[in-house]
Amino acid sequence: MGTTSQIICYSRTGHSRHLADQLADTMGGGVHVAATGRYGVPFLGWLSAGRDALRGHAPPLSGLGDMPDDSDPIVIVGPVWAGQPAAPLNTVADHLRGTGHRVAAALTCGDKSEDDRPLDILAERLGQPLVARLMLSNRAAASGQALSRIKRFAQMCKTGEEWQG
Ligand SMILES: Cc1cc2nc3c(=O)[nH]c(=O)nc-3n(C[C@H](O)[C@H](O)[C@H](O)COP(=O)(O)O)c2cc1C
Repeated sequence: MGTTSQIICYSRTGHSRHLADQLADTMGGGVHVAATGRYGVPFLGWLSAGRDALRGHAPPLSGLGDMPDDSDPIVIVGPVWAGQPAAPLNTVADHLRGTGHRVAAALTCGDKSEDDRPLDILAERLGQPLVARLMLSNRAAASGQALSRIKRFAQMCKTGEEWQG
């Protein structure tokens, strides 16, 4: 088993990028920023985002290279759109599918109920279970209660064991 975690992040408005940076601080490892200009246009970008997520579209992304062989795990970080993983996360999942890497995912969302079905949908797209899962609302992230949850997620990624904190 390798020892270097790698984080692949897509973020449209910065919440997921902030989470990815916090995870990198906690776990070590690098943040690979996946990008597309497709959703940046005001209003139309938002509409395309919702439509693409609902259709399971996987847009081309820059910043998705091959991960080092000893990456363990690879952590996908990004937002929820329309009750689905954001469309760029489909591209990331397709990129990782069948590579043999262990994969974890941490998603950010606007809804404080933190419905975690988008994590199930992402795991299905990957074709394998996630070794650790986190669904973090923007409200929880801003409240300061996020740190213990981030540490627990990081611990699960590394050892498969719950963090006792
Ligand atoms: C098109 C679109 C659809 C969204 N749909 C949902 C949703 O169904 N459920 C939810 O909790 N948040 C939803 N959100 C809010 C985002 O998931 C949330 O703000 C997220 O933290 C944004 O991440 P980012 O700043 O990294 O882009 C949606 C945002 C966008 C742009």
